[in-house]
Amino acid sequence: MRESAAPPAELIEALDRARPRLGRFSSVRFFPSVVSTNDVAMGIGVEGAVVLADEQSAGRGRRGHDWYSPPGSGLYVSVVLAPAKARADPARAAMLLTIAVGVALVEGIDAATGLHADLKWPNDVYVERRKLAGILAESSGRPTEVVVAGYGINVGAASYPPALRDRATAIETELGRVIDRYVVLAETLAALDARYDDLLEGRFDAILDGWRRRAPTAHGARVSWSTSTGRATGTTAGVDRDGALLVRVDNGIERIIAGELTWL
Ligand code: BTN
Repeated sequence: MRESAAPPAELIEALDRARPRLGRFSSVRFFPSVVSTNDVAMGIGVEGAVVLADEQSAGRGRRGHDWYSPPGSGLYVSVVLAPAKARADPARAAMLLTIAVGVALVEGIDAATGLHADLKWPNDVYVERRKLAGILAESSGRPTEVVVAGYGINVGAASYPPALRDRATAIETELGRVIDRYVVLAETLAALDARYDDLLEGRFDAILDGWRRRAPTAHGARVSWSTSTGRATGTTAGVDRDGALLVRVDNGIERIIAGELTWL
């Protein structure tokens, strides 16, 4: 792992312009190449630390997937959070953490580029039915727990491996123009600082309202998910106060707290 002596000038400029709004996320550690920014951030373990890499040699996605992380075209970012410090109801703050990060991502992408992306429960970022960004939260497991929230955003149109080609998209692909990815970084960090304030101050309804506004398929979409006895299907019926997905099934409402949803 090499830490850059000189972060790219465009990175410094973008952060400087957004500085008054970056709050606790104003200091970004830039690495040309790491295994996973989540590992580096966990090693730092201090609330507010931000790790950015130009490429990851083994970027991780949720549920054991890889996260394709070529140089020069994506944003690979990890931030250190401490939801246990929440003033009101730290347990609920922990449950809503990745929901809050997802809201911040779509808000930051919108502010930086004008692209209006949607959220798919719990926190995947999509345009139409193609994935634009994802979040992987990992916790230290210690009592004074910190949580690392890592996010990857496809900015440039990389040549995706065949398995991803039909399922992924990128900001530049959607907009048909070149985007300064460091401006996207700065705006997502600014949005994250505001949404993390909401989380720590107990403004959970503001987070949930923001999420619902950007998650059109959280209501009325046919979905399937895996259960201990196989796959189940139903129709989405919103999220509850803890961010769990409600799904209407034949005999009532199922409450899903974790897992991967497939649109039918
Ligand atoms: C997913 O949707 O599966 C989550 C993807 C998360 C990818 C990011 S990139 C930065 C951070 N480091 C990692 O190894 N993963 C996350």
